[in-house]
Amino acid sequence: MILDKIIVDEEVFLSPVQQGDEDALVEHLQDKEIHDNTCVIPFPHTYQHAQEWIETVQKRIKERGITLDWAIRISEEKLIGCISFHGHNLSCMEVVKHTDEIGYWLARPYRGKGITTKVVKKVCEIGFEQLGLVRIEAPVFAFNDASLKVLEKVGFQLEGIQRKCYFKNGKFIDGKMYALVK
Ligand SMILES: CC(C)(COP(=O)(O)OP(=O)(O)OC[C@H]1O[C@@H](n2cnc3c(N)ncnc32)[C@H](O)[C@@H]1OP(=O)(O)O)[C@@H](O)C(=O)NCCC(=O)NCCS
Repeated sequence: MILDKIIVDEEVFLSPVQQGDEDALVEHLQDKEIHDNTCVIPFPHTYQHAQEWIETVQKRIKERGITLDWAIRISEEKLIGCISFHGHNLSCMEVVKHTDEIGYWLARPYRGKGITTKVVKKVCEIGFEQLGLVRIEAPVFAFNDASLKVLEKVGFQLEGIQRKCYFKNGKFIDGKMYALVK
């Protein structure tokens, strides 16, 4: 199972992050808000960071035999964002094999058009129907109102506040744990 092209709507589709995406990654990830709202995306984002991310994705595909890191694309294959399952369900722990976690970002010019809401909804359908998931988690920095809104629109429920769960940019940040269950 590769899951290498997922149609979201007539304009938007998902496919693996791949060679050729470097320039788009470097361009979009100069937006510091993406770094500030996520755990591991480097800033400033260099060509080498982009290459390393593409290599990581391609290595994961080989190891897992499945794509769980997609580029969000519009016409002519243009990358405008990314969404991943983090692969927790591939962990060796039997008790959590039915769960996974999602993470995503969308380039600033494309925001506010409902694209991420549609993409998250689609990826969750794939998770439940094709990956055997029963629970999908989305841990979010508590201040990230746009992301909370996306999750609520898809049907995720707030399960709790994770006090001082993260330390980033020199300060502790509360988390909000959202989850969608089948
Ligand atoms: C979060 C993010 C992916 C949302 O992408 P998007 O495609 O603009 O999302 P959508 O258009 O589907 O929905 C966004 C919703 O949030 C609302 N919103 C946007 N900014 C907001 C803000 N600052 N406060 C409250 N609501 C906000 C929008 O109005 C919209 O709701 P509506 O449809 O009811 O009007 C995008 O802002 C982003 O990439 N941010 C930086 C990285 C990030 O935060 N990633 C998520 C980490 S958990």
